[in-house]
Amino acid sequence: MKVEIKPDIYLVGAIDWAVRDFHGYVTPNGTTYNNYLIMDEQITLVDTVKHDFVRHTLKNIMSLTDPSKIVNLIINHIEPDHASSVDRIMSLAPDATIYITSKGKKGLDRHFDTSKWNFRIVKTGDTINTGKYTLTFLETPMLHWPDSMMTYVNEAKLLISQDAFGQHLATSARFDDEFIENASLCELEDSIIDYYANILMPFGQLIKSKLSEVQKLGLEIDMIAPDHGIIWRKDPGSIMQKYLDMADGKANLSISLIYDTMWNSTERMTIPIMQGIKDEGLDCKVIKLRSTPMSAAIKEFWKSRGCLIGSPTLNNILFPSVAEFLTHLRGLRPKNRIMGAFGSYGWGGGAVKEAYEEFKRMKLEVLEPGVEVLYRPSMDDESKCYEFGGDFAKKVKEYHKNFE
Ligand code: FEO
Repeated sequence: MKVEIKPDIYLVGAIDWAVRDFHGYVTPNGTTYNNYLIMDEQITLVDTVKHDFVRHTLKNIMSLTDPSKIVNLIINHIEPDHASSVDRIMSLAPDATIYITSKGKKGLDRHFDTSKWNFRIVKTGDTINTGKYTLTFLETPMLHWPDSMMTYVNEAKLLISQDAFGQHLATSARFDDEFIENASLCELEDSIIDYYANILMPFGQLIKSKLSEVQKLGLEIDMIAPDHGIIWRKDPGSIMQKYLDMADGKANLSISLIYDTMWNSTERMTIPIMQGIKDEGLDCKVIKLRSTPMSAAIKEFWKSRGCLIGSPTLNNILFPSVAEFLTHLRGLRPKNRIMGAFGSYGWGGGAVKEAYEEFKRMKLEVLEPGVEVLYRPSMDDESKCYEFGGDFAKKVKEYHKNFE
């Protein structure tokens, strides 16, 4: 997929149509590994690709130049989907200099024998001149790894943003306007939210401060080229604003209801709860955990202001799939969401209590108490569930006002 994105700057990466399990994150639309070749006086490659795809990028590079002519190799991020073919590139261009952050160098040393490679450690504001282009480095530690940085091509007003502003989308479109024309804005937005929720949710405050740093540096950006998915050429400001909104906790005034069930008792509670929510005028997305990939459930959680968790009690604690979801969610450090819980039990409860303990560990707002039913929901229990759904919807509406 060799594409000239700016004069003499080419996308030379690979499309991975088939990947569905991206280190545990389900990618129903595949992904791409984007890297960029700057055909200037000093030929410069920005990032590599996942090692399985090295022949794709080499083919693209060889259609432009002999890889041995690469003078500079910039490594913005050392996660293996971008850096696991560095050794192959260096075997073809052994005299190239690698530009990388100090933490990136330490990580690369753990993956490869780097003893014969030339390095220059860079930090924010450092530049190199490749001929007609000047490249400025911008460290972005913990967005999303300690080694992360971005590369700004001054004269092209191009920000090569590594993982940031990406999406896991394998598509024949290479640019935002192409994708929107051929698919839809909704599909693109869904991919952005999915990616942000599963990868960047913990880093909202860092995102805000880094974007403010970009503004203070006065970088004019008319194209953002991430390492996954489509390139933002029509409206790069829109994706930056979307990230700021998500970092500020923007969510729909709606509720996700995420549950699992053993003998359908907890599942039967979802119907009156959902009806109670709906009768208060809010939309409610119901997700059964064992029927839904974890990353899709995380995305639905993130979209809505409120979330109800349903779990049967198994051996006095949460049902395993629900415990797994809550543990995964805790690692993502969610903010600005309100939670409640419900569930069924046989002889001794425990799941609902444990769910509330998890919500409090995550420092999320809650509506207490939740609803628990013994064995099967009776007519009376169903009325309690309906009321709980309505009360939760009212609480979500009230809480949402803090973000308007
Ligand atoms: Fe796409 Fe953090 O790697």
